[in-house]
Amino acid sequence: MTATKGLEGIVATTSSISSIIDGILTYRGIDIDELAENATFEEVVFLLWFGKLPTQVELDKLQSDLNASSTIPQPVIDQMKTYPKDANSMSALRTAVSSLALYDPEAGDMSKEANVRKAIRLQAQLPAVVAAFYRIREGKEPIASKGYPSIAANFLYMMTGNEPDAIAIEALDKALVLHADHELNASTFAARVTVATLSDMYSGVTSAIGALKGPLHGGANEAVMAMLEEIGGPTQVDSYINNKLNNKEKIMGFGHRVYKNGDPRAKHLQKMSKQLGQLTGDISWYEMSIHIEELVTGQKGLKPNVDFYSASCYTSLGIPRDLFTPIFAISRASGWTAHILEQYDNNRLIRPRAEYTGLSNQHYIPMEDR
Ligand code: COA
Repeated sequence: MTATKGLEGIVATTSSISSIIDGILTYRGIDIDELAENATFEEVVFLLWFGKLPTQVELDKLQSDLNASSTIPQPVIDQMKTYPKDANSMSALRTAVSSLALYDPEAGDMSKEANVRKAIRLQAQLPAVVAAFYRIREGKEPIASKGYPSIAANFLYMMTGNEPDAIAIEALDKALVLHADHELNASTFAARVTVATLSDMYSGVTSAIGALKGPLHGGANEAVMAMLEEIGGPTQVDSYINNKLNNKEKIMGFGHRVYKNGDPRAKHLQKMSKQLGQLTGDISWYEMSIHIEELVTGQKGLKPNVDFYSASCYTSLGIPRDLFTPIFAISRASGWTAHILEQYDNNRLIRPRAEYTGLSNQHYIPMEDR
């Protein structure tokens, strides 16, 4: 038995949800470029869960189900108020989502119908939880969704309490479309491994949130913004990046396990970063990002991934840095739950082997002889 480090190149399951073939990402066979230009996040959620684009009637029904399911149980809100004020936002999200299971009478119901209803609840409640965490931290009461036919609009409203503007809704909606699913990424794999034991959907999504939190996965978007802030301004880009590259340090937001010729999602976010920067009248984050890309691609051949330009996009939308990864989770919840449903439909326990590299022929040593 020989281990493959990081399971690189290992095909661990079959799936009909999303594919990355020759650098092209598709959801249910539709190129992400087409979806980014045309689809709403809710259409994508339906597509991922049910394998086809919704009719208008189906979309209206999904939107109304999502709106009807977005209320966070009061005990979870009360519990969130006890979190430390400086709690890590992804730790808070992971804890709150785990708690949601305690108040869902269907949490342990493994029927397909109940699992679809739980997917709807999770998709509806994650944005409410992230917004509530933000408001509680700001010393404000969480507010309920306003029932817009869009998760992006409801999320912005639940964060600020203000009517969200159309450009912000459109930008966030597109970001949600672009992050919704991505084949067998680390957090989706974590979700599938968890539910393949026939554990419940909340456990699967809680595992996934834990995996997404890391800086090599979803945590990279926050790390990109931290880097941009640390650089400080355009004149410091060269010395900062050259220094990092000379020290063989990683530049967050670059490189990818699967894409070696560029992440197809990055160009949409790059365009959006420029547009949002122009709208806010501050394109400095965008310009710094472009310069960093020139240096990193020029010197290392590494291309930006989905996280690189999301950082400047979210900053232009006025979203605090530590909510970037929770927003990724709001979007990826659609992919996680689609994969969980697919796993349940054709389940087998996921239990690989390890190549043993430890000692052999050892013996128990009595305490007094150690
Ligand atoms: N900055 C600088 N060098 C990088 C790099 C980056 N962001 N990403 C990869 N490399 C280099 C590695 O140092 C390594 O170089 P070496 O062969 O000289 O040691 C080589 O490229 C291969 O990288 P490796 O980390 O082994 O690739 P991986 O497939 O295991 O990792 C990532 C993929 C995404 C984890 C990795 O590219 C990374 O850490 N990127 C930064 C974090 C990030 O943006 N994550 C979000 C992913 S969507």
